[in-house]
Amino acid sequence: MSLTRAGRTTLPTGPLLGIAAVVAVAATAFAYTAGWLSPHRITPQRVVTALQPPAGPALGHRRNHIKGICFTGTFTANGAGSALSKAMVFTQGSYPVVGRLNLAGGDPRMPDAMAQVRGFSFRITTPDGQEWRSAMIDAPAFAAATPDAFFHFISAAADKDPNAIKRYLGAHPETLRFVGWAKSHPRTESWTEDRFNSLNSFVFADAAGTKRVVRWSLLPANKPVILPPDELSKRAPDFLQQDIVQRVDAAPQHWELVVAVADAGDPTADPTKPWPANRRTVDVGTLTAQQIEAEADGPCRDINFDPAVLPSGMSTSDDGFPAARSAAYRVSFDRRMAEQKDYPHTAAGARQ
Ligand code: HEM
Repeated sequence: MSLTRAGRTTLPTGPLLGIAAVVAVAATAFAYTAGWLSPHRITPQRVVTALQPPAGPALGHRRNHIKGICFTGTFTANGAGSALSKAMVFTQGSYPVVGRLNLAGGDPRMPDAMAQVRGFSFRITTPDGQEWRSAMIDAPAFAAATPDAFFHFISAAADKDPNAIKRYLGAHPETLRFVGWAKSHPRTESWTEDRFNSLNSFVFADAAGTKRVVRWSLLPANKPVILPPDELSKRAPDFLQQDIVQRVDAAPQHWELVVAVADAGDPTADPTKPWPANRRTVDVGTLTAQQIEAEADGPCRDINFDPAVLPSGMSTSDDGFPAARSAAYRVSFDRRMAEQKDYPHTAAGARQ
């Protein structure tokens, strides 16, 4: 949906209702695929509610990765990706991007230094009318092997009983890699120095119909500068936002988009399991942030970076997460869109 700068809708309601109906059917189908309609009734609604802080959600905002800032830019494809997927986005050329640099968590006042996970979301559109949406994080592996396990993980982490998380981790040792990383990985001074990973697996189909299971990553052009913990704690609450504003004002910022191809037998359905580093990788082009805009009334605010929105030539795999995420992101999107009174038109720390 497109909004005017004043936040009013500019589309007639008829087509919107039609789109909403199609999205609702698709979301229900995704929830079903994700196993969230039966038999345990872990619904997308319950999952999104479980993500909210104890004092309740910040109305009008995303229910996770709440802190963020918009950018616009381009994806410049070098043509190499066409060997993997027939999607137009890999044909040599430059395509518009709307993106969002963000931090995991549900508290909009969380100091940037406290963020355990940083995120990068993009939507690339191509002249054939197709879109590629992706929401990636800087972790090398995800916290849970299945969407159901993720629900139990966030529920245990929020439980007042400290034994709940111990019990969860005892039963799910695969989460320990993520927990260890979240606690102790070195923090850089900038989103432009971080690597972001899809973690979930997808299927690419080339022009001849050959299918390959892939994951992708964004590799920063800038060298990482690590902030020691005592220096990190002294940084301003919104230091990452201030940093990206300054850097992009000075010059466009770049990440290389690299696609890794699974070998037979690689764990494609489980994002807690990274693939060996020696897998075939293809550098498919450069993603560039050219302009930063505040999230309030910015171009990314009303985008649902649903990872199941893919162009022809890309599809979901046996990894159940994209379907489950699609259903949950829609619930979050619907809730924040319905909270018009609290909808962010100006934000603390927003660039005026
Ligand atoms: C079942 C597992 C997951 C659930 C339930 C979940 C839930 C959510 C929700 C509710 C949002 C807010 C969506 C919105 O209002 O637009 C969100 C945002 C986000 N999630 Fe997830 N998530 C899951 C897995 C993942 C994974 C595996 C990744 C990365 C590999 C990820 C990365 C992100 C990012 C980067 C955003 C910010 C998107 C934006 O900028 O709008 N999530 N997540």
